Amino acid sequence: MPKAIYTENLTKVYRSGFRLQKVKAVENLNLEVEAQEIYGFLGPNGAGKTTTIKILVGLAQPTSGKAVVLGRPAGDLGTKKLIGFLPESPYFYEYLNAVEYLTFCAQLSGIEQNRIKKQVEKMLALVRLDKFAHMPIRGYSRGMLQRLGIAQALIGDPELVILDEPMGGLDPIGRREFRDIILALKAQGKTVFFSTHILADVELICSRVGIILNGRLINSGRLDEILLSEIEGFELIVKGLDRKMVKVIERFASKVISSAENETYLEVTDEAGVERVLAIVREVGGKLISLQPKKKTLEDHFIDQIAKERLKAI
Ligand SMILES: Nc1ncnc2c1ncn2[C@@H]1O[C@H](COP(=O)(O)OP(=O)(O)OP(=O)(O)O)[C@@H](O)[C@H]1O
Ligand SMILES: [Mg+2]
Repeated sequence: MPKAIYTENLTKVYRSGFRLQKVKAVENLNLEVEAQEIYGFLGPNGAGKTTTIKILVGLAQPTSGKAVVLGRPAGDLGTKKLIGFLPESPYFYEYLNAVEYLTFCAQLSGIEQNRIKKQVEKMLALVRLDKFAHMPIRGYSRGMLQRLGIAQALIGDPELVILDEPMGGLDPIGRREFRDIILALKAQGKTVFFSTHILADVELICSRVGIILNGRLINSGRLDEILLSEIEGFELIVKGLDRKMVKVIERFASKVISSAENETYLEVTDEAGVERVLAIVREVGGKLISLQPKKKTLEDHFIDQIAKERLKAI
C-alpha cells in the first residue's frame, strides 16, 4: 500500500511585502504518513502547517522538493476525488441551510444523484447537525460551522481526510465529539491528517505526530515512543504514614502532598528513591495505594522542543 502522504525536501518560499522579501514558510520538509493512521501535525502559529496542507491538497505549488499523496503527485485531479479537506477558515454560503449546502458539496464531489440524500443525512447525523438541518447557516455558532465543515470534508467518503485546525472554535464537548468522529473514521480504515494546537486531544487520538517549527520538522514519530522516552519520575500514593514519617520520606521526593484521608501523594525522580520510600512505607505498616511513571505530556514535550529549537537559533 503506498504511503498516504510522502514529502521529500518540500520547500515553499513566499515573496511578500513591498520589497518582495523571501519568507521560507516550509523548508526541506520530509513527512511520511502511512495509510490508515491518524497523524497530528503540530506547530505554533506561523510554523508552516497551512502552507504544507495547501501544497498537499494542490492549492499551492512547492518552490522545490516533492509531495506525493496516495501515490500520485500532490494536486493530481484523480487523487483530489479521494481526499476530503477542511480549510483553516472555511467559507460557507450563509443563505443556504445545511442540507442544501451539503447537497451542493455532494454534487461537486461526484456522488451519484440517488445516493446524495442518504449521504447528506448520514453526515448531518455524524456531526450532530440533524436537528438544525433546515436552519440557515448564517444562524450557526462557530462550533456548528466547524462541524458543518467537517461534514463537508467527509461527504464524498474520502480515503484520506486532511483537516487544518479542525478543533478551532469547538468547546470541550465539541472536541470530544470530534475525537469520536475521528476514531470512527479510523475504524473504517481512513487516513486522517490534521493540524492543531490543541495538544490534549492529539494525545487521545493520534498514533503518530510531527512537530513543525519555522517550516522544518523538528520531531516526528509514534506518540507512545516520544512520550515513553520521557519518563520524568514516578508518582506514588501511600496511606497510613504519620506526620513524622512523611517528613522522613520528604527527603526522597520532589513533591509531597498530604490529604485529609491520611493519604500522601509523592513525586520521586528515580527508581532508587522509589525503593527507599517503599521500604519505609512497609516498615511502618503503611500501604502503597498506587505507583506509576510520570510521563511528560505532549504539551511539555512540545514546549521543550520549541524552546530547544529557539535556543539553537540564538
Ligand atoms: N501567501 C503568503 N504570502 C506570504 N507569506 C505567507 C503566505 N502564507 C503564509 N505565509 C507565511 O509563511 C509562514 C507560515 O505560515 P502558515 O500559514 O503556513 O503557518 P501555520 O503553521 O498554518 O500558522 P497558524 O497556526 O497561525 O495557522 C508564516 O510566516 C506566514 O506569515
Ligand atoms: Mg494555519
